[in-house]
Amino acid sequence: MSAKLDASLRSDLAAMQKAGTLKTFRHITGAMDTEVTMAERQGRVLVLSSNNYLGLADHPEVVAAGKKALDEFGAGTASVRFICGTFSIHDEIEKTLARLSHTESALTYVSCWAANTGLVPAVAGEGDALVSDALNHASLIDGCRASKAQRLVYKHSDMSDLESKLAEVKGARRIFVVTDGVFSMEGDLARLPDIVSLAQNAGASVILDDSHGVGVMGAHGRGTCEHFGLEGQIDIITGTLGKALGGAAGGYVAGSKALTDYLSQVSRPQLFSNALPATIAASARKAIEILEREPSRVERLHTLARTMRNGLKARGFKPLEGESAIVPIIVGDTAFAIRMSQELLSEGIFITGFGYPVVPEGTARLRIQMCASLTDAQVAFALERFEKVGRKLGVIK
Ligand SMILES: Cc1ncc(COP(=O)(O)O)c(C=O)c1O
Repeated sequence: MSAKLDASLRSDLAAMQKAGTLKTFRHITGAMDTEVTMAERQGRVLVLSSNNYLGLADHPEVVAAGKKALDEFGAGTASVRFICGTFSIHDEIEKTLARLSHTESALTYVSCWAANTGLVPAVAGEGDALVSDALNHASLIDGCRASKAQRLVYKHSDMSDLESKLAEVKGARRIFVVTDGVFSMEGDLARLPDIVSLAQNAGASVILDDSHGVGVMGAHGRGTCEHFGLEGQIDIITGTLGKALGGAAGGYVAGSKALTDYLSQVSRPQLFSNALPATIAASARKAIEILEREPSRVERLHTLARTMRNGLKARGFKPLEGESAIVPIIVGDTAFAIRMSQELLSEGIFITGFGYPVVPEGTARLRIQMCASLTDAQVAFALERFEKVGRKLGVIK
């Protein structure tokens, strides 16, 4: 790397360090679980920052399914799907995902990032319109930015703004309302019934990213659509296999057969990037099997989320309200959020502080994410440590 570029990058990093916003990696030395060990410190720490909502990331059956696929299919396809990269396990996970999503078909990607950025510009181009929630995940935002369609952003979950933005769209060939199901940094749910009805009135289709909803929302964990009784009524659903559904990586688009056929032809990550590794496809399929077999995991997750939220409130914190497994506490300043997460780590709680640019300036937060495998004792321990650190830093009195 040229010395000039290196110096310039170092200066940007030094500015982040000075502002207290520099993020540091923590190096975990074993599998993701409710507790992990870290290279940086002695002893185990309680994890409240993982998307391992159902506790399946190190589930023996999920691990065994991945190992079996590794033996059967090797390390990977060494190819994109249409050249020689479609294994039978891809067909199997895609059938499973379509069933879970109540759609005709599904198509996998190596991540939901790839799914979102591969989907939006493929279906929406010149002459089309995208009407998108202001707090959508970065991958949906980048997908919209990569599209040549007219782009309109409505205020977060503001249905009258969505209605007026839809009214601004004139003569578009295709119109899409684009939304997260569960907003990842707020933990709140999209107002899906209103969105569906406004979209229908405007002749628009809905694109729903349910990465934090699948495995979490609805009595059977089928996602935000199940929660709202809207299964089978959303045109396009995207999701990740990297959170509740095994936690490895991988993403998907679920919708009609025409949609997935079309994406297989034109979606750029399908055409120019390798297929999902077979190990992940097999592990995720097993994770879905466990979800379907043990819906009590979903119930447990919500019980724990309520215990955490109520416990925080009883101690004087003001977590954002919500029905998902995400419980954010806004602390304002990024440097402060990072400091609080460091204090919590020294107390045995691993939780990351999020600041700008991940969330808007001035709304830095600690995002607690619950896991169905947490014990009551672990949650009680976390609350006690939150109280201790909250008092020390003056967040609570
Ligand atoms: C709402 C949402 N969509 C998409 C993604 C990207 O998922 P993946 O890790 O599979 O790329 C994330 C991950 O943070 C997310 O929260």
